[in-house]
Amino acid sequence: MITFDGVGHRFGDRTVLRGIDLDLRERFVGVVGANGSGKSTLARCVNGLVRPTSGRVVVDGLDVGRQTARVRRRVGFVFPDPAAQIVMPTPAEDVAFSLRRAGLSRSQTTARVEETLERFGLAGHADHPAGLLSSGQRQLLALASILVTEPDVLVCDEPTTLLDLRHTRRVAALLHGLPQQVLMVTHDLELLGGLERVIVVDEGRVVADGDGPAGVATYRALMEADAC
Ligand SMILES: Nc1ncnc2c1ncn2[C@@H]1O[C@H](COP(=O)(O)OP(=O)(O)OP(=O)(O)O)[C@@H](O)[C@H]1O
Ligand SMILES: [Mg+2]
Repeated sequence: MITFDGVGHRFGDRTVLRGIDLDLRERFVGVVGANGSGKSTLARCVNGLVRPTSGRVVVDGLDVGRQTARVRRRVGFVFPDPAAQIVMPTPAEDVAFSLRRAGLSRSQTTARVEETLERFGLAGHADHPAGLLSSGQRQLLALASILVTEPDVLVCDEPTTLLDLRHTRRVAALLHGLPQQVLMVTHDLELLGGLERVIVVDEGRVVADGDGPAGVATYRALMEADAC
């Protein structure tokens, strides 16, 4: 469970989040809003990448500001650009790197790496240069390297922006099949429409909080109003 309690944030004199109060208990929560509305800033508060200038965020009973290291071990974060996240030369090495603190033997690590790459459709690319993977494959690898650590909560900031429809659906199916709580920022209306809960952010405020169709309708109305 993720709680935002009166969260506000300023970058210098620019106010980016204003009085965010949320209790997120659903297994899959979407966040949508205009460019620059504060979605990534809000998502980054969940694992302490951004420290709110007021209020607090609590994840599964842990105060993110005070217990940041513990929170980071429990919250996986997927960035919009997978290149920012892939640290090793090949997919197999990248997934193995994520397991370096798992206390596994070499053969256990190899087995986990193989089964993880298989699950993410990357078994045929285990030893290929990661830089030569397609954008979709890189996105899947970034997800694989995070999920292999078995976080309790997964925060995804636009995990499908680089992907074609087939890869988008593959990532969506993967995310929906996870046992973890998922908080996903996206502009993809197809992904949002089916969610139980969607938060709409505008100018740093939560302006709608309801089911997927309601969230999509509010977002469309906001975008159409701005276009006039
Ligand atoms: N590190 C930073 N320093 C200063 N300003 C920042 C910083 N990070 C974000 N901002 C500003 O905060 C505002 C909100 O940014 P944020 O990245 O949260 O928006 P967003 O809703 O994720 O947008 P997008 O849909 O384009 O990803 C923007 O005006 C942005 O320029
Ligand atoms: Mg963003």
